[in-house]
Amino acid sequence: MNGIIQNRRSIRKYQAGKPVTKEQLTQLLEAAMMAPSACNSRPWEFIAVTKREILDEIARIHPYAKMAEQASAAIIVVALPQEGTASGYFPQDCGAATQNILLEAVSMGLGTCWCGVYPTPEPMASIRKLFNIPESKIPFNVIVVGVPDETPAARGFFDASKVSYVE
Ligand SMILES: Cc1cc2nc3c(=O)[nH]c(=O)nc-3n(C[C@H](O)[C@H](O)[C@H](O)COP(=O)(O)O)c2cc1C
Repeated sequence: MNGIIQNRRSIRKYQAGKPVTKEQLTQLLEAAMMAPSACNSRPWEFIAVTKREILDEIARIHPYAKMAEQASAAIIVVALPQEGTASGYFPQDCGAATQNILLEAVSMGLGTCWCGVYPTPEPMASIRKLFNIPESKIPFNVIVVGVPDETPAARGFFDASKVSYVE
């Protein structure tokens, strides 16, 4: 296994004021758009945020994204449920894109926290309103991004009892 997967942890403390550059955000989004998707439908869009007031507003309206107050960026993954011929797969496609961002961030020395939005109605409504996302699209999650101010230990939850081998 490569160290990037092992070293990914949710980061909830960030070095305030340490910027995340537009180039870094673009690199993360290139990684996102390399994710597999059903029938290659790529049912996603991304909103990259570095505006301080908006990051603070995310922290205010999302009860579990308070760490956005210290972080320097966030990426909102927006799902396009009608895109392509395999529309029911959008949560898997957007999840794969999200995980690519999380892992690419580790390789860049950045920290992230995946903050769930879809399918919980309240954060969906408040994030939709904040970014003026139309009803045809779905606010899928908020990925908080920043320079970490904590280093949680690598860990794993490998559980052999959850695996069956067919040999
Ligand atoms: C769908 C999803 C939603 C999550 N929502 C939140 C959230 O709102 N706030 C938060 O702090 N962490 C959130 N997390 C992070 C999980 O709490 C975290 O991944 C889990 O506790 C395992 O810890 P680790 O990421 O450090 O390995 C979410 C993770 C996923 C996959």
